[in-house]
Amino acid sequence: MPLRKLSIAGIRNLASQTLFPGPATNLLVGPNGSGKTSLLEAIHVLARGRSFRARAMDAVVTHGASQCSLYGELGMAESESRVHQLGVSRETGGGFRYRLDGESVGAASVLAEALPLLLINSGSFGLLEGPPRVRRQFLDWGLFHTASDTHPLWRQHLRALQQRNALLRQSRPDARLVDLWDLRLAESAEALNVKRQAYLAELSPLVVQLITSLSPGLGELRLSFYPGWERDASLYRVLKGCRDRDIMQGASQFGAHRADLRVRMDGRPAQAFLSRGQIKVLILAMLLAQGAHFRQRRGKPCLSLVDDLPAELDDCHRRRVASLMQEIGGQCFVTGTDAGPLLDAWAGTAEIKLFHVEQGRIAEKPLPTSAKENDQ
Ligand SMILES: Nc1ncnc2c1ncn2[C@@H]1O[C@H](COP(=O)(O)OP(=O)(O)OP(=O)(O)O)[C@@H](O)[C@H]1O
Ligand SMILES: [Mg+2]
Repeated sequence: MPLRKLSIAGIRNLASQTLFPGPATNLLVGPNGSGKTSLLEAIHVLARGRSFRARAMDAVVTHGASQCSLYGELGMAESESRVHQLGVSRETGGGFRYRLDGESVGAASVLAEALPLLLINSGSFGLLEGPPRVRRQFLDWGLFHTASDTHPLWRQHLRALQQRNALLRQSRPDARLVDLWDLRLAESAEALNVKRQAYLAELSPLVVQLITSLSPGLGELRLSFYPGWERDASLYRVLKGCRDRDIMQGASQFGAHRADLRVRMDGRPAQAFLSRGQIKVLILAMLLAQGAHFRQRRGKPCLSLVDDLPAELDDCHRRRVASLMQEIGGQCFVTGTDAGPLLDAWAGTAEIKLFHVEQGRIAEKPLPTSAKENDQ
């Protein structure tokens, strides 16, 4: 369900204001430092209860302000009766308060379920260039939204890992207890990885399909899963075998918390030889495939935030990305410093809203006549 109304107060340089985004493509255009990324950040905080570029929320609250608050309404049209209302507020130095449909809720994950959101920004390069954690988060995003029976597994696995690590750090860990947590950790890790592998098996063909339409001839793409320990070995045996080393290090070296995703193009690690633009296209294919998979499984699209799409993409790739995003459907917010490249990429789209961002104020602008003509 798209975000049809958004009220913002106390976020970065953004003025307190209310916007009415369109249900499909929303282009946000403005000079450097005008507040485009801050607007995406505001939507992210509303959907996830945290920023994507600051660990501490205090950095996100407007300098000198004592609190921030966000309110969003989800629904197709003003007249539609089944609307969800989301609210997030936070005092500087204090805790978050989340509300869904007028009721207080304890965890941001409730908002994430109500407003599934896909983020594509410069941080997405981490999918190829960053640590394994980023790729685990990528897989776990898909599981969170398309396999809700994974939720208890994460909790069991985290508890088993924490308990085992706490025991390993004791001066004389009780061998029977370590053995018990070895077993629990192995069971939950193996079950979690079965889910991750199944998700990847469904996602991979979509990524291959999207990269083929975005960059035909780029190469043969293969995504493979590394479980976090020697493939085909039982984790319980692995944990037993490396217990002394684990005790010395005070941490578990093998397990699902070390899982990774390997991305190879023509048999070589993709990040090692693709150009910056090619990497961006590959990352877009991986993330948009998640959006397409979400839609297949849930029967409805998710919301996408795309920060600075024009950067590092040529006109042709930009147009292909725009056309794929329309095929996948759903509401998107796309930023850029200049309207031209974005309007060109989305030319011919029926439902575009164009917003100008200027010194923290966001104003809807009429589409230039040429874009409207393309609309017919
Ligand atoms: N906590 C804050 N309070 C007030 N202003 C802030 C705060 N944090 C950052 N800013 C300012 O907000 C402005 C908007 O930043 P933002 O990153 O949203 O710009 P942008 O439009 O995305 O720019 P670019 O095109 O360079 O990416 C910047 O001038 C920044 O210095
Ligand atoms: Mg920006």
